[in-house]
Amino acid sequence: MAMAMAMAMIKIPCSSFSWPWQQNSKLPKVKLLGGGSVSVSRMGFGTWAWGNQLVWGYQPSMDAELQLLFNLALDNGINLFDTADSYGTGILNAQSEKLLGTFITQFQGPPQIRDNVVIATKFAAYPWRLTPNQYVNACRSSLDRLQIDQIGIAQLHWSTANYAPFQDRALWDGLVAMYDKGLVRAVGVSNYGPKQLLKIHDYLKERGVPLSTAQVQFSLLSMGEDQVEIKNICDSLGIRVISYSPLGLGMLTGKYSPSNLPRGPRSLLFRQIISGIEPLLISLKEIAQKRGKTVPQVAINWCISKGTIPIPGVKSVKQAKENLGALGWKLGASEMDQLEYAARESPGKMIQNVFQTR
Ligand SMILES: NC(=O)c1ccc[n+]([C@@H]2O[C@H](COP(=O)([O-])OP(=O)(O)OC[C@H]3O[C@@H](n4cnc5c(N)ncnc54)[C@H](OP(=O)(O)O)[C@@H]3O)[C@@H](O)[C@H]2O)c1
Repeated sequence: MAMAMAMAMIKIPCSSFSWPWQQNSKLPKVKLLGGGSVSVSRMGFGTWAWGNQLVWGYQPSMDAELQLLFNLALDNGINLFDTADSYGTGILNAQSEKLLGTFITQFQGPPQIRDNVVIATKFAAYPWRLTPNQYVNACRSSLDRLQIDQIGIAQLHWSTANYAPFQDRALWDGLVAMYDKGLVRAVGVSNYGPKQLLKIHDYLKERGVPLSTAQVQFSLLSMGEDQVEIKNICDSLGIRVISYSPLGLGMLTGKYSPSNLPRGPRSLLFRQIISGIEPLLISLKEIAQKRGKTVPQVAINWCISKGTIPIPGVKSVKQAKENLGALGWKLGASEMDQLEYAARESPGKMIQNVFQTR
């Protein structure tokens, strides 16, 4: 009922209908190291907002549209969805995983498309998770919510090296145990800096577990020395870099300005940064106009052209449809230079995630 009303309201047909923009159904995929047959699309979608009221203003009334968005993504060749067991605020804790579980189960399209979905979830390093077995249990809980037999990519959400180094070993052994028990197809990390990345890579290697992905904040607003070093390490070891917040939480869409800020805590952050990214936004707009693309498409394409897999957050069918247009083309070298020059010249930069380690 809710679904039918939402479809009527936004005038979008159901998933068995052939979408007019269904152009990426044969999108090339990227194979993950050691993940057996795991291949992911060159862009995934992020689902932090799905269940988060505080930062993203989520309301359960959005679910029907999120389901349409999920179907649209699958129909257009996207098979990677990033989530976490900590996504969702208050009583909506883990709502993002629950919604993904519902959407996978209810997908009406060809079963092989549904079976190809790769869920990349992240396990929080909560202070009470102190043993490997607690991570295995956390993994089983995620599998229940996601209603699947195996997690596509099991990621450690952050390292505790900065404040509780003794806990890291439990996290790492937990990841090994999940992999050895066949609960996950591939493993990855998130918010690991270059040093920690090398450490965990070597630790996992000794235990016969390949590290497939490293997720880091990576965008034209977040392209510092750490990002470059992480990318170089990953390239040399065959690890794929997943870029989170590729749109700078929305600042790189061009729709916000000092006089038009989003609601909620993002406004505090944007207030400090947005007036300092004018040169970058001008360059993004210029290239978008010349290319017949939109600003978010250019910002996301920059991440793809850097050889990473961006996972832009999406809250509506309109945003998902637009972001799909970041695929199937690549910025040229001079356009990349222009954007990176403008980014360097812009005093506004994203702040580093507090959980990011060296
Ligand atoms: N590992 C980690 O610690 C970590 C941290 C952060 C994020 N992540 C992951 O990365 C994903 C993406 O990052 P993010 O969500 O933080 O930020 P983002 O991708 O930089 O920005 C996403 C937001 O931009 C707006 N937007 C997206 N596409 C748009 C379009 N075409 N036109 C206009 N507005 C558009 C939407 O918000 P509004 O419409 O409200 O502006 C959307 O929620 C997350 O969902 C999550 O899966 C991981």
